[in-house]
Amino acid sequence: MNKLSIADLKDLRGKRVLVRADYNVPLDEKAAITDETRIKETLPTIHFLTERGAIVILCSHLGRPDGKRVESMSLKPVAVRLAELLNQPVGFANDCVGEDVRKKVAAMKAGDVLLLENTRFHAEEEDNDPKFSEQLAGIADVFVNDAFGTAHRAHASTAGVCKFIKICAAGFLLQKELKYLGEELASPDRPCLVILGGAKVSDKIGVITNLMGKTDAFIIGGAMAYTFLKAQGVAVGSSLVEEDKLGIAKETLAKVQATGVKFLLPTDHVIAQKVETPVPGQKKPKIEFKNPQQSTDATIEVGYCGVDIGPKTIARYCAEIAQSKTIVWNGPMGIFETPEYAAGTFEVARAVAAATQAGAKSIIGGGDSVKAVKKAKVGDKVTFISTGGGASLEFLEGRELPGVAALTDKA
Ligand code: 3PG
Repeated sequence: MNKLSIADLKDLRGKRVLVRADYNVPLDEKAAITDETRIKETLPTIHFLTERGAIVILCSHLGRPDGKRVESMSLKPVAVRLAELLNQPVGFANDCVGEDVRKKVAAMKAGDVLLLENTRFHAEEEDNDPKFSEQLAGIADVFVNDAFGTAHRAHASTAGVCKFIKICAAGFLLQKELKYLGEELASPDRPCLVILGGAKVSDKIGVITNLMGKTDAFIIGGAMAYTFLKAQGVAVGSSLVEEDKLGIAKETLAKVQATGVKFLLPTDHVIAQKVETPVPGQKKPKIEFKNPQQSTDATIEVGYCGVDIGPKTIARYCAEIAQSKTIVWNGPMGIFETPEYAAGTFEVARAVAAATQAGAKSIIGGGDSVKAVKKAKVGDKVTFISTGGGASLEFLEGRELPGVAALTDKA
């Protein structure tokens, strides 16, 4: 990476370091954190700074409060948990800019840690407003970006702030993400396999196009497979299809064929009837998938839709995974939140874990595939799990991340 690393920073004692983290963690209705991975993953960066006597000022967004103060999206619960994980007090400021923040920072000593309130409580954050960026920057001597999950957003606290601070470095989490999703895939161990799933073809076309020249095979599951099947003329019943993406799906299939890369689509499915139940007082009906059955081939009959890949497909996909040396996975194979439709996703997760134990490198990106890997209890048996959802997809598409681009170049 040609950007300054936190490891390159010298003489940090007494320096005020503003660290952008991605503490956009899921909270339940009692404001309890239900997955603290993103908090734990920033600990190496924070420890590095506190051990060197830096004054650590953390900032982050949580949720999408649309520029207003929304108490349920406060970062206070994160400050409490962070203090437990760091085993030291973590101060909390009720805002991310202003007089109170300046006073709190001025009172900090070497090794102290402070978390600022949600940056998105100000509309200027998402607008990447220069005055707001300058205010944020005004409390720091050095900026460290460790928010990989938000690095695809050109916001004040991810990119704008770098215009006002001379030294802007990448934190350890950000670097780890760029290593696995970038460097490892630039010249992967072969055979290299990309597993893609989830609802929409439109979310993954960029990834397919970018990785086509680097991978040996693609495995496709989830609802996006039905758009590809329909583009090939296969009947898919009432499965979810992006009708307006059939053209691009056809073009992609033709490109893949021309490059000779394997492109595996499901050859059988778990199918179910889609039932829409009206909910009083709500516009959108409740959708359930009932009476699961097995299709015997790739076609799906009228009145049914695909909800998971079938057993023949599972066997074929698992065999492909077993012979791969680099595996990238983004998106589930079916509606894995429903136990009857989870077999495809969980079998793929277990096969990825087994291949990793046998020496392959496995890189899991994207919120739902990460959830699936954890639910299948193999989270500790894969090589790398990305903390980014949209960010990991955009990076795999080969796009420049504004939060990385804004950092100081290495001398
Ligand atoms: C995420 O959870 O993907 C990141 O925190 C970015 O959140 P956003 O999609 O609301 O910008």
